[in-house]
Amino acid sequence: MSRRDLGICLIGCGRAGMIHARNFMNKVPGARMAAVVDVVEDVAGAAAAELGIDKWYTDYRHILDDRDIDAVVVVSPTNLHRDIVVDCANAKKHIFCEKPMAMNTRECDEMIEACKKNGVKLQIGFMRRFDASFREARRLLEEGVIGDLVQIHSCTRGPSKPRPWMYDLKKSNGILAEINSHDIDSIRWFAGSEIRELYAVAGNFRNPEAKAEYPDYYDSVLMNGVFENGVQFSIDGAAYVQYGYDSRMEIVGTKGVLHVGRSDASFIKCTTVEHGTSTPFISSWMTLFADAYLAEDIAFAEAIINDTEPPVTGWDGRQAVSIVEAGNRSILTKSIVRL
Ligand SMILES: NC(=O)c1ccc[n+]([C@@H]2O[C@H](COP(=O)([O-])OP(=O)(O)OC[C@H]3O[C@@H](n4cnc5c(N)ncnc54)[C@H](O)[C@@H]3O)[C@@H](O)[C@H]2O)c1
Repeated sequence: MSRRDLGICLIGCGRAGMIHARNFMNKVPGARMAAVVDVVEDVAGAAAAELGIDKWYTDYRHILDDRDIDAVVVVSPTNLHRDIVVDCANAKKHIFCEKPMAMNTRECDEMIEACKKNGVKLQIGFMRRFDASFREARRLLEEGVIGDLVQIHSCTRGPSKPRPWMYDLKKSNGILAEINSHDIDSIRWFAGSEIRELYAVAGNFRNPEAKAEYPDYYDSVLMNGVFENGVQFSIDGAAYVQYGYDSRMEIVGTKGVLHVGRSDASFIKCTTVEHGTSTPFISSWMTLFADAYLAEDIAFAEAIINDTEPPVTGWDGRQAVSIVEAGNRSILTKSIVRL
């Protein structure tokens, strides 16, 4: 390919989308923002104005024939990922797609097939794999510092009130998808294996107004099980915990343990006579993982430029979706699910 910088188009200019757009604007070597798309006209226009670009649309199909656009970053609501990715792959655009990859494994398979058929890259947005602490923990595990891997515990609890559409599991797949997709990917990455069986329990403890219309909605979930290689795992997820963004892992080996993640927003402790000592809790994934989002965007551009396999593949995205499906099945049937 020519050595001009890759032209990137963002599809979905919301919270997560603009993180990627600001990265591709001037921090990713070999790439530049070429266009933005959002179904809401004001949102698309404001994004283009902020980024200083003149191509913006309310329908992604406008960019399909634009040869100035080499790749798309798909950050629309999850239920649209399948159609957008398949259409863009058929138009020979490389694809970065946010997690959860899609609503079910059938959609994931169609996306993988479309990218394969058209010879375009497909990377899924599991940015924790690019976080310095997660990478160091994995290196230590691989070096055998904690002996053989026995158990992985991973929790993610989000502070904010769920958006109303999230109460409908048919639209959101629940917090196992919206929040715990990252934990599911991380434990697969650390275990180096696929999950053999799992069991999950869930309940709605903080959003009573959703109970009548959405009795299946849950804001708290515990899922545990075992990998094919015998490693045990547990995942804990919660929405609307209010106290902060809480994402941590414990990796237990035969000779030691690794604790990954931090809760403190800064290294400052505030001590006063009235309130004692306090440290602010991390408030958002946007700050905790800012460096990881940039690193994954750089890796995506490198995979296109060097024609190598992206470090997080469509298969990784698909496997996480299959575990979400199994977890939701376990909750509804109150039984162990074997994969
Ligand atoms: N990797 C992460 O840590 C992370 C964090 C947050 C969200 N996400 C994922 O990113 C995706 C978006 O989440 P968000 O929190 O940014 O949502 P959001 O609601 O803030 O943004 C979504 C945007 O997509 C736009 N949109 C809707 N339909 C569209 C269409 N047909 N074409 C183009 N744009 C359209 C909306 O107008 C909105 O501006 C979801 O899949 C979510 O799970 C990932």
